[in-house]
Amino acid sequence: MTKTIPYKNVLLGLLSLASVLPDGTTAAVLPRTAGCGCHSNHHPGPENPSFETGDLSGWTVVSGTAFGNASVTTTASYKSGSFNQVGPLNQVGKQFLWGMLQDGDAAVGTLRSSTFRASSTMSFLVGGGYDPANLYVGVVLERDGTLLFSQTATNDEALIRIVWDTSAYAGQNVYMVVVDTSTQGHINLDDVRTGCHALHDGGLSFNALGQHNQPPQNSTALSAASLYALDPIRPQFHYTPYQGWINDPAGLIQWGGKYHLFNQFNPVAPLWGPMHWSHAESTDAVHWRELPVALYPPYPDNPQDTSGRYTGSAVLNKDTGALQLIYTDATNVIWHPKAVAEVVSSAVSSDGINFDLSNSNPIIAAPPPDSASGFRDPKVFWDPTDNTWKMVVGSGDSRSGKVQLYKSTSPTSSELTAWEYVGVLHQGDDSSRGTMWECPNFFPIGDKWALFYGQDKASVGWYEVGTYNGTTFTSEKLGLLDAGPDSYAAQWFVDDAARNLLVTWMGSWTTSKWPSRVNGWAGAQSLMRELFIREDGGLGQKVVDEVSLLASGPAKSLGRTDVHNGTMTVGSSNTARLQASIDLVASTAPAFTIELFASKAESVSLVYSFGNRSLTLDTTRAGYGQAGKWSATIAKPADNRLSLDILIDRSSLEIFVGDGTAMTATVFPRYQESNNIRIVCRGGKTVFDDIVLTPLGSAWV
Ligand SMILES: *[C@@H]1O[C@H](CO)[C@@H](O)[C@H](O)[C@H]1NC(C)=O
Ligand SMILES: *[C@@H]1O[C@H](CO)[C@@H](O)[C@H](O)[C@H]1NC(C)=O
Ligand SMILES: *[C@@H]1O[C@H](CO)[C@@H](O)[C@H](O)[C@H]1NC(C)=O
Ligand SMILES: *[C@@H]1O[C@H](CO)[C@@H](O)[C@H](O)[C@H]1NC(C)=O
Ligand SMILES: *[C@@H]1O[C@H](CO)[C@@H](O)[C@H](O)[C@H]1NC(C)=O
Repeated sequence: MTKTIPYKNVLLGLLSLASVLPDGTTAAVLPRTAGCGCHSNHHPGPENPSFETGDLSGWTVVSGTAFGNASVTTTASYKSGSFNQVGPLNQVGKQFLWGMLQDGDAAVGTLRSSTFRASSTMSFLVGGGYDPANLYVGVVLERDGTLLFSQTATNDEALIRIVWDTSAYAGQNVYMVVVDTSTQGHINLDDVRTGCHALHDGGLSFNALGQHNQPPQNSTALSAASLYALDPIRPQFHYTPYQGWINDPAGLIQWGGKYHLFNQFNPVAPLWGPMHWSHAESTDAVHWRELPVALYPPYPDNPQDTSGRYTGSAVLNKDTGALQLIYTDATNVIWHPKAVAEVVSSAVSSDGINFDLSNSNPIIAAPPPDSASGFRDPKVFWDPTDNTWKMVVGSGDSRSGKVQLYKSTSPTSSELTAWEYVGVLHQGDDSSRGTMWECPNFFPIGDKWALFYGQDKASVGWYEVGTYNGTTFTSEKLGLLDAGPDSYAAQWFVDDAARNLLVTWMGSWTTSKWPSRVNGWAGAQSLMRELFIREDGGLGQKVVDEVSLLASGPAKSLGRTDVHNGTMTVGSSNTARLQASIDLVASTAPAFTIELFASKAESVSLVYSFGNRSLTLDTTRAGYGQAGKWSATIAKPADNRLSLDILIDRSSLEIFVGDGTAMTATVFPRYQESNNIRIVCRGGKTVFDDIVLTPLGSAWV
């Protein structure tokens, strides 16, 4: 059994440098500087803590066959079959314990370390499967065998540093255990550290990650803002679930004056599962208040039955004032072989909080013909070409993705529960954009119509802009909705100010990098964005003006600044907005780089090359997250001013360029010091009209 330490003790234990939270309380922040007067020989820790002997010397196989000398390896990178599970393993030194090597995933077993005396903190690197009950690294009190702390991994091989406050046990004899009672996974371990060595690494301090640093949501009197501030990698002004998993934003609407955001949600684990709809509301489009879960999956008693309420949209019934959700009811046909896998259903609320499933469900009982790839994510919109409610639904067959079009035949004063199939609104010429288009959205913008959809499996969001006559869409322009790695399943809506707004999931199905799983959550939603037609006819995005309401202090404005051959530090923050305007005529350098989340050990770089107008985001040296490079070509601005609007939020990065290009990424720094913002220029100068850095605060009210 896990012994739970009251969170207050955790706070006290870690409180060597406290930071003041939004509500005036203090948060635990692990010590930033050394000077804890300890020496590693006072806190020797277990024998062979980093497996550098190349075997299990000092460790004991307690049971099973999962662990043995062959578990220890010098392999430095990995590549596995599914998606992008590639990259460095992140071990310290040469060797580490890779739990699958000795006897495969089916093997079970337990390994323990030598006994050592607990110091006030300890840390280690963990990787491998997510399964808190069956795959974990723990520390055990030798006296009575109590498991004091345990930590599972993230369903990714790469190692992540966990930090535990063991001060309640300082001086007592403990040992580590590596437990694998799962027949389908393994757990990896490296570099167990005790004493101040547990926190400090070459003059830097590790971010304190791990489930034990996350108090249960309602176990303290902390406000949502304060609770969310405790986690060093949790975005502060982006929507995240406190615990659990989110993916697609859904049901976006301004209803009764308030903005409503729903999310595909699994509260049970930071993994996809039986889909609920979580719910939050906002009076200003940037500050959020959590509301009760709006929709629950149909078979909650069987955790293996992944039937759920998938993505959908929201409408205001103008006659009754009710808020109606129209969504996909997905049924796991393994458990329910006679069911139709994906149908359209409805739920209605009169108070905007409690939702009743419609008696008419399903409102579309089966997909139209030639929809073999799927039938999901209904998006309802008002069609001014014939003054009717219409609905687009994502679909596809073996040849291409498609968007199916429906028309409401419901009497105007009732719920929208009667729908007639119109036909295929749009489909791919071939399979080059996949054979299943998810999360379609279709809407008039300016004198055009915009369609966007997600290419299933590839997790790529496409848009098309063109014309529409009530039944058929004629595309004139095709492009990517976002040039970065972490944007998918975007949803559009129109607010009371007639703005075309968008929220995108800051995630992707193609990555296995979800480092925040060690803190019990995964997934974030973007800031609210406004859509517009770009000068080249494409679909552009910018963050809504209300983001300025998030400012938590005065902006620092540098005015006109020349950055000559060298590096200029703009400031240090990981919750901020950086706005820059570059004079393209006066600049003489071939390129400039903006470094974000930067310390001496890591950084994200954003490189603009003047010659070919390419903007490249590079996360290959940026910590635990997805490593790669993503580029966009920026349109030549008529006024010769390149403008950048960059939102930095602990593990989230949104970049908006003046021409409407958006780049969205997640970033998970390893170190507390990785918060510097610098501009680097070589071989000439870059001339900024202005550089403005504004600290931003919490979105939670
Ligand atoms: C690992 O190898 C060493 C040296 O050969 C041996 O003494 C030890 O028993 C082995 N341990 C395990 C768990 O097989
Ligand atoms: C804590 O929250 C959960 C989920 O919202 C709820 O079921 C439980 O009753 C709450 N516990 C307390 C002590 O408020
Ligand atoms: C819309 O355009 C399609 C394709 O050109 C045509 O078949 C259809 O009749 C048109 N519909 C209307 C309402 O004009
Ligand atoms: C743009 O130019 C830079 C510098 O020459 C080069 O490194 C980069 O690959 C080019 N990008 C594109 C998209 O052509
Ligand atoms: C830029 O600075 C580096 C050293 O920081 C120097 O070697 C180089 O010559 C400089 N280049 C120019 C064009 O000034």
